[in-house]
Amino acid sequence: MTILHIDSSISGDASVSRTLTKSIVESLGGDVIYRDLAAAPLSHLTERGQDPELLDEFLVADTVVIGAPMYNFTVPSQLKAWIDRILVAGKTFRYTENGPEGLANGKRVIIALTRGGFYGEGSPAAPLEHLESYLRGVFNFMGIEPEFVAADGLAISPEQRELSVNSALGETLRLAA
Ligand SMILES: Cc1cc2nc3c(=O)[nH]c(=O)nc-3n(C[C@H](O)[C@H](O)[C@H](O)COP(=O)(O)O)c2cc1C
Repeated sequence: MTILHIDSSISGDASVSRTLTKSIVESLGGDVIYRDLAAAPLSHLTERGQDPELLDEFLVADTVVIGAPMYNFTVPSQLKAWIDRILVAGKTFRYTENGPEGLANGKRVIIALTRGGFYGEGSPAAPLEHLESYLRGVFNFMGIEPEFVAADGLAISPEQRELSVNSALGETLRLAA
């Protein structure tokens, strides 16, 4: 099994999303291709077009594990730059007479979300949740139903942080089982 492991947090060893993706990848086992989008950032997309190496890495992976912290209500721009390389018409989706069709189905995508606050349905901040909803939309568009593990409320209090991290870590083991 080939696993593509992507991290995007700027917080190094203190990062919760990095801890979660590491746990998932270690539990799954397999050949791992690792991309640290904070240590080696991709440039913004330009008209010169796509990056075949990044697209191929995504296409050959059986499983993709992504660390996605919430920055200003959505994905880090580092992760957005990677998404800009894998959403490619004719490769991962196409437009048909019946609307868009995903071409990347058959791949397992597991996403570790981390958020400082809470964005559940009905909560005051719910309208600002553009992380999980965006990523679900992006992968659905390519024909993939992503699986999520989330550590929320990380900035609320040390107690809440510990609770959320431990619960999400437990969830990573369940996902990888
Ligand atoms: C630049 C920056 C922006 C952030 N923006 C948000 C935000 O909009 N909403 C939120 O709930 N948390 C926000 N946070 C908190 C992070 O989501 C939280 O610290 C999380 O743990 C980051 O993931 P990491 O531990 O993997 O780095 C932000 C953190 C940083 C560093």
